[in-house]
Amino acid sequence: MDIEEAINKRRTIRRFKQDPIPSETLKKLIDYARVAPAGSNIQCVEYVIVKSPPMTEKMFPLVKWASSLPKEERTPESGREPTAYIVVLVNTDIKKSYFDYDIGAAVENILLGAVSFGIGCCWMGNINGPKIRSLLEVPENYEIKHVISLGYPDETSKMEPFEGSFKYWKEGNEMHVPKRTLDDVIFKVL
Ligand SMILES: Cc1cc2nc3c(=O)[nH]c(=O)nc-3n(C[C@H](O)[C@H](O)[C@H](O)COP(=O)(O)O)c2cc1C
Repeated sequence: MDIEEAINKRRTIRRFKQDPIPSETLKKLIDYARVAPAGSNIQCVEYVIVKSPPMTEKMFPLVKWASSLPKEERTPESGREPTAYIVVLVNTDIKKSYFDYDIGAAVENILLGAVSFGIGCCWMGNINGPKIRSLLEVPENYEIKHVISLGYPDETSKMEPFEGSFKYWKEGNEMHVPKRTLDDVIFKVL
């Protein structure tokens, strides 16, 4: 898969088949994140892989889904939950501030890498940090920043032309995600 295909194919997925993702694949995704750009090359981002069923079940209520959708369409139904999570941490012994861009770059590598394995992801900022800390026994010198929910897709999602609202919507088993046009986002060419 070439880079353009991966970029355009990547869509947030929130419904998953229940086949497990192999451990080597999850580790490979972290390996893509490992080599992402980092400010001053100071590499403070670390990861917890959560993949065993008792732990994935406990993670599920600690993340919140699709706040733009009507309540009844937000959360994956029973049997369509993520089969794995990657919890994104910052080791504050390595860097104490200015790490949000590092996280963004690392997470995007994971999301694009996942596309190449046919895996769907949801990048999640709406998470219960304190409960995740306690569940995963993450020490206080780590910040818990984001969670990536993963699994083989059990829904589809397509881009739509932007017509004045950023709100995404769901029809049947398909998500629709408006994106601004290229001309709209190129502010100036000098
Ligand atoms: C920083 C960030 C935080 C996000 N947090 C959540 C979240 O907590 N829950 C969720 O369901 N989706 C979350 N998303 C996914 C966005 O809703 C999604 O990227 C957006 O609707 C665009 O869809 P696309 O990824 O298919 O282009 C988040 C995305 C980003 C970049």
